[in-house]
Amino acid sequence: MKNTVLTFKKAKEDNTRLTMLTAYDYSTARLMDEAGVNSILVGDSLGNVMLGYEDTLSVTMEDMIHHGAAVSRGAKNALVVIDMPFMSYQSSVYDAVCNAGRLMKEGRAGAVKLEGGRSITPQIKAITDCGIPVVAHLGLTPQSINALGGHKIQGRSEEAAKKLIEDALAVEEAGAFALVFECVPSKLASLITEKLSIPTIGIGAGGGCNGQVLVYQDMLGMFSDYVPKFVKQFANVGDMMKQAFKDYIDEVSSGVFPDESRSYTIDDDILERLY
Ligand code: KIV
Repeated sequence: MKNTVLTFKKAKEDNTRLTMLTAYDYSTARLMDEAGVNSILVGDSLGNVMLGYEDTLSVTMEDMIHHGAAVSRGAKNALVVIDMPFMSYQSSVYDAVCNAGRLMKEGRAGAVKLEGGRSITPQIKAITDCGIPVVAHLGLTPQSINALGGHKIQGRSEEAAKKLIEDALAVEEAGAFALVFECVPSKLASLITEKLSIPTIGIGAGGGCNGQVLVYQDMLGMFSDYVPKFVKQFANVGDMMKQAFKDYIDEVSSGVFPDESRSYTIDDDILERLY
């Protein structure tokens, strides 16, 4: 069944859990969609896991549209959420609306995601007023990595926890239909989840959120540059891929691959006339 913003609303009402995974290409999106995930996030984490940048700051609108459109073609039932990249919405409400529109028109997103709290509520309101669903993102917001001073758990002090609560209520008020919490203490994420009427999706925010999201290379053991504590590897696809690449190299080097069964024939009479 097609997942929409109503699926998220109903999950919050019924207290059922939502599933979200990141994807950046058509074939991975198809596999996830066939597996039945509720939502696919085309995260700007593609800067790290697909493009090899050290952070997400260099990711462009063109990157997000290119990968987002590929994912949208593969996702028949999952709700596709595309991240708004760094500086595509912070600069002005006008930029935010135009760029969110491009992610919908060119990337065929079902919703867009923005990082930040009260400071970007005018953008969230303006985007939702255009009929574009918005997912908010609080806690560790990687686009602000320089301001945050690194990958740190957010909301641990009383002041920071209060700010997180105010930000969560503000993005809900501005019109966001869901909220991602990244690297927030579990009990704080649960407390805020209870205060909100929109669902929370956690990543490193404990089991009390209304749903979970993981970067797919992390949960498949395909990305070893940095593995955060919150990641569970559901399979070690990285090792399987490496072994398959080695087997391929061995078989090509030794002439085992390709054999007759994987080759095409031509009539011997024709071949003789060519000599
Ligand atoms: O870019 C991303 O993958 C994200 C998730 C970590 C939530 O924003």
